[in-house]
Amino acid sequence: MTLQGGLGPALLPANLHEKPAEGLVATIVYGRPGTPMPPWKQFLSEAEATWIVEKLMTEFPK
Ligand code: HEM
Repeated sequence: MTLQGGLGPALLPANLHEKPAEGLVATIVYGRPGTPMPPWKQFLSEAEATWIVEKLMTEFPK
């Protein structure tokens, strides 16, 4: 909710901007096996995950 991290890493632009967007999209869609990051593919399309990454890497939420 705050994007500051906790169980997972902070999802702020400063933390994400050097990471390839397609890898972040894959993390959301498929999760990171062996970590608490779950896959979201039952709930989100790849296009929706791409939209989330674009927002996280720029100004979301203002
Ligand atoms: C819709 C909700 C979520 C989104 C959009 C999301 C997104 C992300 C993204 C983009 C990363 C990669 C960050 C990076 O590489 O810097 C990540 C990593 C991670 N997330 Fe999530 N996440 C969500 C929910 C959760 C939940 C519910 C948990 C745990 C209960 C979680 C745990 C983690 C962990 C532990 C990592 C790091 C994995 C590693 O060590 O490689 N995430 N998440």
